Amino acid sequence: MKVLILFAHPAFHKSKVNKLMVEGLSEIKGITFHDLYQEYPETDIDVKHEQKLLTEHDVIIFQFPVFWYSTPSILKEWQDLVLEHGWAFGSKGNELKGKLFLCSVTAGGPKSAYQVGSYHNHTINQLLSPLRQTSVLCKMNPLPPFVVHGSHAIEEYEIQTHKNELLKLLAEFTNNNFSYADAIKYDYLNDYINKQ
Ligand SMILES: Cc1cc2nc3c(=O)[nH]c(=O)nc-3n(C[C@H](O)[C@H](O)[C@H](O)COP(=O)(O)O)c2cc1C
Repeated sequence: MKVLILFAHPAFHKSKVNKLMVEGLSEIKGITFHDLYQEYPETDIDVKHEQKLLTEHDVIIFQFPVFWYSTPSILKEWQDLVLEHGWAFGSKGNELKGKLFLCSVTAGGPKSAYQVGSYHNHTINQLLSPLRQTSVLCKMNPLPPFVVHGSHAIEEYEIQTHKNELLKLLAEFTNNNFSYADAIKYDYLNDYINKQ
């Protein structure tokens, strides 16, 4: 399977976690790494180009830091413009049908804070549900998210551990040994990959 990583970080020069998470991904065979803020500094998204990229890949990944319980703004703009009626959804919109979709996110809050009744009072899966449902409407098959929690206080070696998990996951996609049926049993893809 071919993987498209749509990356969004509006202040990449300040990034610690995503910098390491995405380093070298563009050099891996079978992966297209697409940095939206770098490609579109004026947010002038080329819809036809983005749609072409989508059709050329089997796994679509949104990689981003969680900002205000959501995505950085360019990813919203991207959805609003690229996922057109009659192309991505609607009775004649079948271009994304059957592709896998997932979010790979970094969040300042620790996992313990992302529980009902805890500091953020919602799970990451609850907060990401609009993206998940968007993928369903576009006839894609959504996967649980891959999450790096506690990014404010995280040590370099811990980021590297998560990077290794992400690389293992990406290798399953590109080597065609990813199990969709197993993966959807988990809340986080991190747990799926650590059980392999
Ligand atoms: C504008 C802004 C909003 C943020 N909102 C959240 C949030 O809603 N939840 C959260 O856990 N972290 C939040 N954070 C923390 C970021 O997710 C965290 O800084 C990021 O994941 C670290 O990745 P980086 O080192 O690649 O920048 C926010 C940070 C900024 C700058």
